Amino acid sequence: MGARPRTVLVTGGAGYIGSHAAKALSRAGYRVVVFDSLGAGHRGAVQYGDLVEGDTADVGAVRAALQGHGAFAVLHFAAFLDVGESVRDPLRYYRNNVVGALGVLEAMVAESVRYFVFSSTCATYGEPIETPIPETHPQQPINAYGDSKLAIERALPHVERAHALRWVALRYFNAAGADPDGEIGEDHSPEIHLIPRAIEAATGGRGLQVFGDDYPTPDGTCLRDYIHVTDLADAHVKALESIAETGKSGAYNLGTGHPHSVREVIHTVERVLGRQVPWTLAPRRPGDPAVLYAAPQKAQNALHWTPRYADLETIVRTAWEWHRTHPNGYGDR
Ligand SMILES: NC(=O)c1ccc[n+]([C@@H]2O[C@H](COP(=O)([O-])OP(=O)(O)OC[C@H]3O[C@@H](n4cnc5c(N)ncnc54)[C@H](O)[C@@H]3O)[C@@H](O)[C@H]2O)c1
Repeated sequence: MGARPRTVLVTGGAGYIGSHAAKALSRAGYRVVVFDSLGAGHRGAVQYGDLVEGDTADVGAVRAALQGHGAFAVLHFAAFLDVGESVRDPLRYYRNNVVGALGVLEAMVAESVRYFVFSSTCATYGEPIETPIPETHPQQPINAYGDSKLAIERALPHVERAHALRWVALRYFNAAGADPDGEIGEDHSPEIHLIPRAIEAATGGRGLQVFGDDYPTPDGTCLRDYIHVTDLADAHVKALESIAETGKSGAYNLGTGHPHSVREVIHTVERVLGRQVPWTLAPRRPGDPAVLYAAPQKAQNALHWTPRYADLETIVRTAWEWHRTHPNGYGDR
């Protein structure tokens, strides 16, 4: 690539995955500008660059941030991501995730910023018809969250043709773990993800519910693909470098390809913490597929990306280290 440091705008960079990507970018020699409403994010998570407070639907504010900082690329994380909430309040999801992303794209086109890396999700696939799931799997989301992400994936090739924008859509499976240096970690409220919820239950907080133990899986609980947040962050840097070098847009799964059951996660948390995880059985949630895991070869081959923290124990250890040392997260809620 050309002369460094080059500046990257990271929308949602005060959030969980965006803050880890900001760290990875900064380590790779980029200058980072975080653009975040702080609606769900944390000022304390912005440690690797400047913070611009704003909403991605505000095209003028995004344009000013791009122009003012001379950004050459955008990593777009800003979105809402609670599937259940998206079922109850779909309009809120379409507004924030679709209108927000379009705001960023409009601003990029207006400022001639050509590289866009988009946080997509395995929820764009819907109910899997085959596993592991390859990128060619049909995309038929079954909730507004997945559909709001797919709407942007669908828009990207059209924007590319019209405006020479190059893009990568990264379809994450289950993001988990925390920065191995312990500087940043996961602080969602309410927390909905399994590993932090199991840690919370083990340390005297809310008990954990397991949604269904009669799935057609070896132990009856759902199988998911947990991918370490630092590995996700590294994939973003590689994706950005790939489009800047090759000009080749595309969509990639980001997962390990090795699924783990809910029970396995609970046992791993118990082993790592040396404590029991109290849990109760609850009914299946509608729209929860039994098995979801990635065929990760495309990203590994094309982006030269291999997860470094792929084993579940390492993922749980880094998550535990963060929660142990930050029992109130960033302490701002
Ligand atoms: N966490 C996962 O397991 C997972 C899985 C698949 C995809 N994703 C996607 O990854 C991205 C990041 O997820 P996360 O777990 O870091 O979420 P997060 O809530 O921790 O971070 C999102 C950030 O975006 C900001 N934001 C939201 N809407 C905004 C807006 N309109 N304008 C400006 N800022 C806004 C929030 O304040 C927050 O800091 C999301 O796009 C999500 O859909 C996450």
